[in-house]
Amino acid sequence: MNEDSNPEIKRRISLLESHVGFKLDTILKHALKTRDSYTLEHSERVVLLAEQIGHHMGLTEHQMDILSLAAGFHDIGKIGIADQILLKPGKLSGDEYDDIKQHPIIGANMLRSLGNPVLEEVALCVLHHHEHWDGKGYPDGLQGDEIPTISRIIAVVDAYDAMTTTRSYRSEIEIKQALEIIRQERGKQFCPKAVAAILELCSQHPLKSQHCS
Ligand SMILES: [Fe+2]
Repeated sequence: MNEDSNPEIKRRISLLESHVGFKLDTILKHALKTRDSYTLEHSERVVLLAEQIGHHMGLTEHQMDILSLAAGFHDIGKIGIADQILLKPGKLSGDEYDDIKQHPIIGANMLRSLGNPVLEEVALCVLHHHEHWDGKGYPDGLQGDEIPTISRIIAVVDAYDAMTTTRSYRSEIEIKQALEIIRQERGKQFCPKAVAAILELCSQHPLKSQHCS
């Protein structure tokens, strides 16, 4: 995705710069792109999809700002995961999966290290984007309303994008099938309100980040 030609990306970068005061967004995303270009592209799509869900759920302007930033940085901690695990094309072993599960903690610590109050909020949402509504997620096993709303939105959109885009070892599945899996996980893996929002939006038009307006 070209930052020079995408007004949405420009808007988010200027949003971050106004909060943080320097081009952290550009630096961190360049670092992630160097390690794993799929993760960067996935993160860009997650921002666009999450913003639609957040808007539909009636988030405040401040929450929308935090959502945009947290969605963009949700997997930034993957910078700290070894290449042989991060880029492994096949199924991960138990130990490898345990290593991958560190990425929300690594990402949150990276953001917190800057001592900025806005990034502190963003860090909390990044930390909890793999929690499950039923408490079976990670890193802290939070459940229900204990999980930040923004993390719950990112969780649904993260799964939707992962299921509807093609990676080297997994073919793209139909949007309907992805939505059915998300529907089945309502109240288990995913927040019921976030699931309702994505299903309502998709009943109007298929959610494809490259078609977002
Ligand atoms: Fe993640």
